[in-house]
Amino acid sequence: MRVLVIGSGAREHALCVALSSDPVVSALACAPGNAGTRAVAEPLDVDAADPEAVARVAVDWGAELVVIGPEVPLVAGAADAVRDAGIACFGPSAEAAQLEGSKSFAKHVMAAAGVPTARSWPVGGPAELETALDEAGAPYVVKDDGLAAGKGVLVTDDRAAAVAHGHHVLDAGGAVLVEEYLDGPEVSLFAVTDGTTVLPLLPAQDHKRRDDGDGGPNTGGMGAYAPLPWAPAGLVDEVLATVLQPTVDEMARRGETFSGLLYAGLALTSRGLRVVEFNARFGDPETQVVLPLLETPLAGLLHAAATGTLADHPPLRWREGAAVTVVVAAPGYPEAPRTGSPITGADGEGVLHAGTALAADGDVVSAGGRVLAVTGFGADLAAARQAAYERVAGVRLADAHWRTDIALAAVEGRIVVG
Ligand code: AMP
Ligand code: GLY
Repeated sequence: MRVLVIGSGAREHALCVALSSDPVVSALACAPGNAGTRAVAEPLDVDAADPEAVARVAVDWGAELVVIGPEVPLVAGAADAVRDAGIACFGPSAEAAQLEGSKSFAKHVMAAAGVPTARSWPVGGPAELETALDEAGAPYVVKDDGLAAGKGVLVTDDRAAAVAHGHHVLDAGGAVLVEEYLDGPEVSLFAVTDGTTVLPLLPAQDHKRRDDGDGGPNTGGMGAYAPLPWAPAGLVDEVLATVLQPTVDEMARRGETFSGLLYAGLALTSRGLRVVEFNARFGDPETQVVLPLLETPLAGLLHAAATGTLADHPPLRWREGAAVTVVVAAPGYPEAPRTGSPITGADGEGVLHAGTALAADGDVVSAGGRVLAVTGFGADLAAARQAAYERVAGVRLADAHWRTDIALAAVEGRIVVG
């Protein structure tokens, strides 16, 4: 099978590594890819945000399966364009990707499907903002309704800051959602679906804040680990029954069948589990820890989802052990990352490339805010953590920033549910 991956981050690098080890994959390409994906996948040029360009590169290269990594092409309709060209595609239609593209759309679907989530107040204009904040109360949760690469949310006790963030989003032409604050640890659970059958993967946890101890601004994700030793027994079954299957069924009922990867961002609150958000694609950086633990060949699984045959797919198999990934970020991330700096030591096992590029002289240079996702494996989380940080120590990028506490609270047994 000729498989084409669309995207250029560490998630796509992880997808390429997993796909390249599936014996049914005869050729693998990544468009546009980065300096790391080239080691496992043929680089192809594309403007991933342009659905017709994505379909064209898939046809020209002779792809038999296209796997779309990021949300921007999905929301723009890349999966529709690829399917219209007669090629199997892993990823939802533009309509179905609204589960991620519009937080208020996701709230409507959850309400119709009876899925537990935070109460929310849509804010149409500045006049409604303060009323919504007063009704919700502190801590305030103020969100950009649209796509914002994980950076559109402000959680704060400071009412003036909450008002300012709301105005900032409204002034930029966006819509605002104020939400009830959810306490409790967060879980990312991915499910592969063909629109009917839903197969959950292993739960993982992301670290969204930039700094150790969950300080600093929200980012696209600074590190992740799996599995979750503190997860309550039966968590995956509960999320499947109360969140994933009802959402997929509700989308089908609306005639907006969701196929691809449904990512439930969950909070395990003192009042039970709640959906924080849905994403319509693999999470980044959680994918970098979930895929290496998946023993089931990936191309066959994604192809089954893309072709509506997931009901016939064998149960998923997982490797023993744990994985931890640490994001190495550029100085200035997330506000104003500095790019163009040389990177060395980034070609070892487990070093996945995020924002990297090849300079004219062939050197690897930073090309984004999150530069690398350095992954370690071990018999347990403590061993995986150690392996990941040993690999981080071998990387050189001037003024790089990374958190030193990825998976630490879990290793130390400090995460309490309920
Ligand atoms: P989102 O873009 O909706 O995933 O939000 C990004 C992050 O903001 C989440 O992972 C949470 O850490 C935090 N967050 C979002 N919504 C809430 C909420 N209702 N209560 C508490 N924290 C939240
Ligand atoms: N890990 C957060 C995200 O992928 O949106």
